[in-house]
Amino acid sequence: MSRLAVLISGNGSNLQAIIDAVAAGRLPAQIAVVVSNRREAFGLVRAERAGIPTLYFPFKPYRDAGRPREAYDADLAERVSGYAPDLVVLAGWMHILSPVFLARFRGRVLNLHPALPGQFPGIHSIRRAYEAYQRGEIAQTGVMVHWAVPEVDAGAVVAQAEVPIFPDDTLADLEARVHQTEHRLLVDAIRSVLRGT
Ligand code: GRF
Repeated sequence: MSRLAVLISGNGSNLQAIIDAVAAGRLPAQIAVVVSNRREAFGLVRAERAGIPTLYFPFKPYRDAGRPREAYDADLAERVSGYAPDLVVLAGWMHILSPVFLARFRGRVLNLHPALPGQFPGIHSIRRAYEAYQRGEIAQTGVMVHWAVPEVDAGAVVAQAEVPIFPDDTLADLEARVHQTEHRLLVDAIRSVLRGT
């Protein structure tokens, strides 16, 4: 049974999609640990409810001690390694992981991003897509799952899906549609990676 480490920073609705898929037998894996850099991340509650080990690992102590991000990432990698993951899934992890972490899990880190390849890298991607649509610059947006590499939201794409935008959409409408697409795409991407397809 493949072991997953899932890294989150917030609500954890994508984590919940993985939890539900595993419970329903739709994903041949077990979640070995859920890691959050934020104590108040609701995703930690979701993990605890599912009986999954959790690790709260904040950056603040490193920042307060004047220690660099690389030190945090190296220690994070060490802690995550302790759970022997076959695959590390970034499901809303809001830190940029330095090469130190990625080198530890070479070629085994998947990242979910709420935009199409090459579009709106970084944060607030859905809002930026919504605004671009309002300016008539794009007709639709999308979601992708890709292998994490040091360059932000780059890396070979494992799966992607387009998400339509409609004229009467509010930003909330689009966010809901994007997240719904993410929940499906992320599970499908993990499944295809675990099957080696
Ligand atoms: C998702 O849109 C993910 O793509 C982005 O942050 C959001 C996390 O949502 N990086 P959740 O915490 O999984 O609900």
